[in-house]
Amino acid sequence: MKQRILFVCLGNICRSPMAEEVFRQKVFAKGLAEQFEIDSAGTYSGHAGELADPRMREAAHCRGYCLTHRSRPFRVSDFDDFDRIVVMDDSNYERVCRLAPVRAHINKVYRMRDYFTTYRTAYDYVPDPYYEGREGFYLVINMLEEACEELLNECCEEIGDRK
Ligand code: 4NP
Repeated sequence: MKQRILFVCLGNICRSPMAEEVFRQKVFAKGLAEQFEIDSAGTYSGHAGELADPRMREAAHCRGYCLTHRSRPFRVSDFDDFDRIVVMDDSNYERVCRLAPVRAHINKVYRMRDYFTTYRTAYDYVPDPYYEGREGFYLVINMLEEACEELLNECCEEIGDRK
């Protein structure tokens, strides 16, 4: 059975499509592509259908990633369609949880900060780079690379437990 992971931010044009791609690359590097289904979504639908923000795509490109995801809104059916919903900040957490039809679904919602290691001391969320300069986008990539490594380790432990 595949592990289905959904990354969520506000617009689904900066942080969560980047998280999706960072996680996907790590999964590929470990030869686990068949074991995962990976997607991203936003709690705000204003950018639906758009590619990631050009500044995010440029930073991604400079770090060896190619973002092709098109923004889509988070939907209530995502609670059934995914095993883990990983949000970038507390505001995303509140918005997603408010949409949960049953309490059990809230147990599927995780914060990306749960997987921080070195960034844990300075940050308890992935900062929104939308209104920031270029360096904000590189910070997001650095944080996501660290957190996705931990997230994948945790997922691998689960896969191992299930075998
Ligand atoms: P994201 O960044 O949530 O990381 O995709 C944002 C994208 C768009 C907006 C805010 C944040 N916006 O206000 O349109």
